[in-house]
Amino acid sequence: MAGRILKEDIESLRAQADIVTVVGDHTTLKRAGRSFKGLCPFHTERTPSFTVSPEGNVYHCFGCGASGDLYDFLMRIEGFDFPEAVEALARRTGFTLRYEELSARDRRAIGERSRLVAVTAAAAAWFAEQLYAEEGQPARDYLRSRGFGREDAARFTLGFAPNRWEALSRALTADGIPPEDLIATGLAVRTDRGGLRDRFRGRLIFPVHDPGGDVVGFGGRVLDALDYGDFDPPKYLNSPETPLYKKTRVLYGVPQARADIVRDGQVLVCEGYTDVMALHQAGFGNAVATCGTAVTVEHLTMVARYAPRVVLAFDGDDAGVKAAERAWEAAREVAAAGSGAAPGAGGSGSGGGGGRRADRGDGLDVRVLVLPDGSDPADLVVEVGAEGMRSAVTAATPVVPFVVRHRLAAADLSSESGRIAALREALEVLGREPDPDLRREWARTEVAAGIGVAYDFVAQSAARLGVALDRHQGVAASSARGPRSEGAPHQAARRLRARQERAVLRVALQAPELLPDEWFELTEDDLTHPTARAVFTTLQAAGGAGVELGMVLEAAADDQVRATIRALALEDEEGPVDAEVAAWRVRSLLADRLRGQEQVLRERLHTLHHATDRDEVLAVQRELLALERRRRLLTGVAD
Ligand code: UTP
Ligand code: MN
Repeated sequence: MAGRILKEDIESLRAQADIVTVVGDHTTLKRAGRSFKGLCPFHTERTPSFTVSPEGNVYHCFGCGASGDLYDFLMRIEGFDFPEAVEALARRTGFTLRYEELSARDRRAIGERSRLVAVTAAAAAWFAEQLYAEEGQPARDYLRSRGFGREDAARFTLGFAPNRWEALSRALTADGIPPEDLIATGLAVRTDRGGLRDRFRGRLIFPVHDPGGDVVGFGGRVLDALDYGDFDPPKYLNSPETPLYKKTRVLYGVPQARADIVRDGQVLVCEGYTDVMALHQAGFGNAVATCGTAVTVEHLTMVARYAPRVVLAFDGDDAGVKAAERAWEAAREVAAAGSGAAPGAGGSGSGGGGGRRADRGDGLDVRVLVLPDGSDPADLVVEVGAEGMRSAVTAATPVVPFVVRHRLAAADLSSESGRIAALREALEVLGREPDPDLRREWARTEVAAGIGVAYDFVAQSAARLGVALDRHQGVAASSARGPRSEGAPHQAARRLRARQERAVLRVALQAPELLPDEWFELTEDDLTHPTARAVFTTLQAAGGAGVELGMVLEAAADDQVRATIRALALEDEEGPVDAEVAAWRVRSLLADRLRGQEQVLRERLHTLHHATDRDEVLAVQRELLALERRRRLLTGVAD
């Protein structure tokens, strides 16, 4: 909403809300003295090291180090930004927030909005009831035929609009909802005779929510079993543009998907309601859909706050390519906007939240998951299963090579003039990639190899067209931001990492009997902090974990390392450390190593040509899957 939230309201809401209740939605808490303990919702563990202190109004995990106040918790678990966290908490606790500097017009807009949201909420509830009424049978049959059960329907609060002229309008006006509001929300239209006619009739209903969970509109699908008379209805009908529903802004499934998007660091964008449902059902809880429109700047601005990578699950046909290209254009606009202005209003500190993506300058990583002709993600996941879908997502092509390939596929490469035209076109696409390393790589693997010309020739043509392939060459306008610069998120990550390494060494020096087998897999390369690395090599030189402290100190190269070893051997742990905590610490270092290896393979995958290096592509993909599997085992993240 417009205006900043009043600071005193932020504070009094924080003071009066109960952190134990809020956290309790996400993990079971048990009282332990003055605080509460439970399994950490941010990492997988089997013994509780997550502590909530109702007096201090804070949480802290002794396993992974996550900590903060109530708002930090909501930001982290839901992917909210600060004002959203405050608004969500206010909504949930029935606290009315006041905003600064609200104009009369803003106040009216807020008033209208809450009035209309009450109408859409009532309609969604009524539709949901009809799904399980007798009349809802055809809708239930359809869902069953698609493999969706009651739980899937409940997750998306599906409903059914009876095949009658004014079923909804009658029910809601009888409940006191004014006809004008039914019209304003697009649920009904006024007839010539002055009565009301429902917009959605004889349809399976998909309510569309905004990120905060309010119903803003609906999509409705025809049901083949129903009789629509002479009238041939469109397969899907969506809400018209209303004060609540702007189709260029809504994405279907955001509140259901947000936590998974944040956790996975990527969002799967598809085209249809049923795609989202099928993907969620198969374990891809990070799927959302546009509602019958192209991907817009507004859509991507929204998801960029949750994750740095967007995987577009689009058709492999021309329309799909065009859609991917348009989405890519939108992503570049988001990046351009994001590199300048500061994030929105209300973010009055409260620290934490590190790495909000909106202020990243380096843009969204857009990839395309090419679907077999004529199939959609819902079909694909049925066909290849969750595991097959996972490898398809892993192998999604970065958008630049994707577009280059399509341009080349359409080009005439049999004549010299054709090849030159194709080269020009491909380089034009390449010029839009901001990262010079990637431009150079793709000039080789996609352009030179794809057209069948020497790389030097590509490089010369690029120079003529002003597309910089060499990082030392005059930099093209598009690369003004340079290669990925190290921003605040990276520094924060480094500090966190150094803390994790220190924690592992503390266990090795204080309680070596708790170390898991994976400890023996660690090498000095797994310790990134120079001091931690020095301690590790000293420990190994002295004979490994478990040798007497005196021997370790003796093996130290200098006084500084000795001092660190002494400190690590003596300093207190922040909380109880048992074998579980120790194992988690060691495994997370290993998991990071695997993540690095996966990244290398993924980059390798991009340098390979999809057709000419097919065997190698498959081999790398297999290796990648094996690494991912091992990493999931290590971190205990279930599929
Ligand atoms: P599809 O026709 O691919 O539908 O349209 P679908 O999702 O596969 O539907 P099922 O599987 O047959 O039920 C994809 C999306 O395009 C929009 C809808 O959002 C739909 O989910 N659409 C499609 C419309 O808005 N209007 C239409 O008439 C058709
Ligand atoms: Mn379909």
